[in-house]
Amino acid sequence: MLTNDRLIDDNLTNNKLANLANEKLLNSLGSFVKDRYIQKAALLKSQNLYPYFRSIEETDAINVIIGNKKHVMIGSNNYLGLTHHPYVQEMAIKATERYGTGCTGSRFLNGNFAIHEELEEKLAKFIGHEASLVYATGMQVNLGTLSSIVGPRDCAFSDMENHASIIDGLRLGGKTYKYKHNNMAELEDLVSTYKDRYEKIVIVTDGVFSMTGGIANLPEIVRIAKKHGALIYVDDAHGLGVLGNHGRGTVSHYGINTQDVHFNMSTFSKSFASIGGFVSGSKEAIDYVRHVSRSFIFSAALPPSAVATALACIDLISKDDSFQKRLESNARFMREGFLNLGFDILNSETPIIPIFVGDDVKAMKITMFLHHHGVFATPVIAPATAPGMALLRTSYSAAHEKSDLQFCLEIFEKVKKEFGINKADEEDETHEMHEMHETHETHETLERHETYETKYC
Ligand SMILES: Cc1ncc(COP(=O)(O)O)c(C=O)c1O
Repeated sequence: MLTNDRLIDDNLTNNKLANLANEKLLNSLGSFVKDRYIQKAALLKSQNLYPYFRSIEETDAINVIIGNKKHVMIGSNNYLGLTHHPYVQEMAIKATERYGTGCTGSRFLNGNFAIHEELEEKLAKFIGHEASLVYATGMQVNLGTLSSIVGPRDCAFSDMENHASIIDGLRLGGKTYKYKHNNMAELEDLVSTYKDRYEKIVIVTDGVFSMTGGIANLPEIVRIAKKHGALIYVDDAHGLGVLGNHGRGTVSHYGINTQDVHFNMSTFSKSFASIGGFVSGSKEAIDYVRHVSRSFIFSAALPPSAVATALACIDLISKDDSFQKRLESNARFMREGFLNLGFDILNSETPIIPIFVGDDVKAMKITMFLHHHGVFATPVIAPATAPGMALLRTSYSAAHEKSDLQFCLEIFEKVKKEFGINKADEEDETHEMHEMHETHETHETLERHETYETKYC
């Protein structure tokens, strides 16, 4: 039996332990404040240079109201401007009226509506694959599909500029070897060196690279894949609606046989004016993914309004390529405008037009300068780029009027006067140092390298 003294002692000890645990908890919560990204954010805020989480009060797709002031949006992925198209909005509203606002469960169990299957059929037909699978986001497509198809005995070869969702999907899968951006000689070298160690090999690439607006060298990737027996997985988040026949994407842009690309994924969060994503491929492959993909099975289904939005977008662009044509014309106008002003837009060939800046802080300063002059663009800094290779990411829409674009170019002329112009080749020394750093590492250690790994778009 416990004496009173012993009870008091135990209570004291318990209190002490609780206090210690509490102190430890407070310390670990406090360590978030010391995180270098949080410190960087705090510093930027203190200098009025923090460009993230700007709160948009109203938007008509092209103009946004922030702090009661109008800004021309050139930082969005609303490539076809369909978020505000009357037919698209009507279809989204009708779907909400018919099915309600959500599916309240996973498609695997209770959330699979006929409208999801209708969309899958239309997407497969549109892309030219046998089947497709619709997920709740594009990020989930890459997490779930890549981790399902690249197993512990398999490996992936991944472009260094690939999106963060690919990097994370592959982290959940087998081995990954990264190759320098669009460097086909290095890709082939890696594939031929390592292919015999693995059961299945998969080459993974963005179709259009989300930060720099370049296009993957798919014809060469197809050649390498055929020669070495590799599967190909293309993330066409920025190609769908933008490139190819009626916006069918990067594979169509090159006239490649769709069957030569085994998995084609994309998202509805850009040209398709909503949220959600899909992957297409052969019936067997998609059925396999449907039954093993954890981000598909253990997450609720895409809401009916988003499904109907994607269906309406396919309907529109299948019949009418004028959105895509206007987008091309606007992108061309801006590329020429920036080049005439002397800006370095790297190798952009698409509506994503980066402006090379170099220094991270300068990129923040220019972003806020643009903001104060009524233009909304976004900065891309390390680790999303190599150190010293900061960019402004600008992107265009079919819905921009030429007068909006002309206004932006006039503001960029002021940027040039205020900040000057930087060229990427002037930064070659830094870039070369970065590349040297990379090549001095083995490909195995490169896999764990943090540089390039976080994409904020
Ligand atoms: C290349 C790429 N892949 C995948 C995604 C993820 O798509 P979502 O926004 O639908 O999650 C994005 C967008 O952020 C992207 O740019």
